[in-house]
Amino acid sequence: MKTILNILAVLIIVLGQMSCSLPDQYSVVSSPDNQISIGFDLNEGKPYYHALYKQDTIIYPSQLGFVFKEIPALNEGFKVIKTQVNEHNATWEQPWGENKKVEDHYRELVVQLQELVGQKRLMNLYFRAYNDGVAFRYELPEQENMGDFVIMDELTQFDVKGNPDTWWIWADYNTYEKLYQQTPMEEASWVATPVTMKGEQNIHISIHEAALTDYAGMTLKQKVKGVYEAELVPWANGDKVRGSAPMKTPWRTIQVSSNAAGLVQSNLILNLNEPSLIEDTSWIRPMKYIGIWWGMHLGTETWYPGPRHGATTENAIKHIDFAAANNIEGLVIEGWNDGWENWGAKDAFDHITPATDFDFKKVAAYAREKGVMLIGHHETGGDIESYEKFMEAAYRMCHDLGMHAVKTGYAGGIYPRGEHHHGQFMVRHYRKVVELAAKYQIMLDVHEPIKPTGIRRTWPNMMTREGVRGMEWNAWSEGNPPSHTVTIPFTRGLGGPTDYTPGTFDLLFQNAGERVKWNAEDIGMTRTHTTLAKQLANFVILYSPLQMASDLPKNYEGHPAFQFIADFNADSDESHVLNGEVGQYITIARRSGEEWYLGSATNEEARTLSVKLDFLTPGSIYTAQIYKDAAEADWETNPQAYEIVQEEVTAQTVLTLKLAAGGGQAIRLVKK
Ligand code: NOJ
Ligand code: CA
Repeated sequence: MKTILNILAVLIIVLGQMSCSLPDQYSVVSSPDNQISIGFDLNEGKPYYHALYKQDTIIYPSQLGFVFKEIPALNEGFKVIKTQVNEHNATWEQPWGENKKVEDHYRELVVQLQELVGQKRLMNLYFRAYNDGVAFRYELPEQENMGDFVIMDELTQFDVKGNPDTWWIWADYNTYEKLYQQTPMEEASWVATPVTMKGEQNIHISIHEAALTDYAGMTLKQKVKGVYEAELVPWANGDKVRGSAPMKTPWRTIQVSSNAAGLVQSNLILNLNEPSLIEDTSWIRPMKYIGIWWGMHLGTETWYPGPRHGATTENAIKHIDFAAANNIEGLVIEGWNDGWENWGAKDAFDHITPATDFDFKKVAAYAREKGVMLIGHHETGGDIESYEKFMEAAYRMCHDLGMHAVKTGYAGGIYPRGEHHHGQFMVRHYRKVVELAAKYQIMLDVHEPIKPTGIRRTWPNMMTREGVRGMEWNAWSEGNPPSHTVTIPFTRGLGGPTDYTPGTFDLLFQNAGERVKWNAEDIGMTRTHTTLAKQLANFVILYSPLQMASDLPKNYEGHPAFQFIADFNADSDESHVLNGEVGQYITIARRSGEEWYLGSATNEEARTLSVKLDFLTPGSIYTAQIYKDAAEADWETNPQAYEIVQEEVTAQTVLTLKLAAGGGQAIRLVKK
């Protein structure tokens, strides 16, 4: 970090005492490429910020500040006591990620504020401008007149220019498992983040947060039409955030790009998190996994013991054999433990004791012998009090059995009742889980999680999470429309990896057998709304370092297209987003060692895309193993029609990808 001359990046115009007695001040900091800037304005003692892209406003002056419980608000009557500009330019490496090497280059403006009268409290603001967006956070530094406090409202606004097209899901204190809507921003009145917008001149922005470690999750509400304001998820008693000075808030982030693909390429969220706290990361490695899972969602198997129990010793052994024979590194077994009959009740689950018909030790030993990693499964049903009692012993047990991964789940209302999945209570719990899991060398896949805000940089065992309307909804609801998975990369996916669980081959569930309705959402019209080739493409597109092949082994066995999944490497070294429009289509190429995987997918519309392979090593020849929609494929009428072809390609090749309606294409590129 080096301090540079203020005049380089900051224009400070002290307007001083104008007509009124409260001070005004204006400062701005620009991105290293000078395309994006974020400015601070003190207007009659009140703090505001604004943001510009190529000199055009993207966020008009928007207020900053807090309302507290019992003590006066902190949002006016300030003077600036100091400003400082820093520049940071470094590249860091992560043990896994879309890109192993990440450039972290920003300019930062620090503004130290003090109340002019009364308790003369201090508040610092940090503004950062990167080439892929801007961010800011508050600091309540150590000071005499602030100790413990309760934030009742964060006043941060985002006064977005115009009324851009917006892709959003309703704000909800407990779930993100919703379908995205596309409307003018003014109709998106209360939303979860990330929320993505496309404004004039194709400028795309996405508002989210980074480094949510001990604070409430933020939703965005239009209290005044056209202006979003932070609406924090409360504790059971209505408190928003319990803290004490010194404290820093999460970063409020605005990713900015001149096109949709650029948003997906952004590293802003990761860069705003602290470096890794795990020294030895040798046990952390991306992998593909299968599960005793889909059968329960289809209603052909049960989580609880009985004639249809999925997690039997015999079935587990079969799955291990299938994984070992097909280059699948992991297996999750749901329903392995005691308690599923009482899902939803208090103290239902036991995370140590296996189900009566499941020989856990035998299965774990067999998995080790076959070189398949068993992934523990801890469904908590939302009972945090109970899970926190089991957690440490359960992780120790997994560790001792050679299991370095656990899938957790929070399907149900939180105990203690009144707490929400996205409030500070749960943010603290999720964080506790990540730290304890690291202690026992456990990688995590969290379902019903808090949204991703880049914690994976600090805790690289935080691999993937749900927090999305995933594949399972196809098994028991009206399902996810074709546009859904080409919306996720530009919205929810901007926060971090998504455990969507792609890979359905039996798209119409014709091979499922007798299905028993187990879920109130089941309207008996289920199917998966894509072509088969798009299922393969989603392995590449929907990035997850623990990537699930979610269908039943019987639907994969002997299927020629399964070869793509067997070959696919979940460990990515670098990623290129080659094209995309939110909710319409996307093409991504990822390199794993010497191989490349390319995934391209479309919404309900058939389309042809041209893709340059200029990311390949110049001068080398590659075999492209292409899994594509057959000419007559269509997600609705003919979803299973696919073709596998091979072609020789080089860095000079321009491929033409023909995608069926609801279709896709997956390509493995191997150097000759
Ligand atoms: C919801 C999770 O998303 C799903 O993957 C899991 O199978 C069930 N809860 C049961 O734990
Ligand atoms: Ca779920």
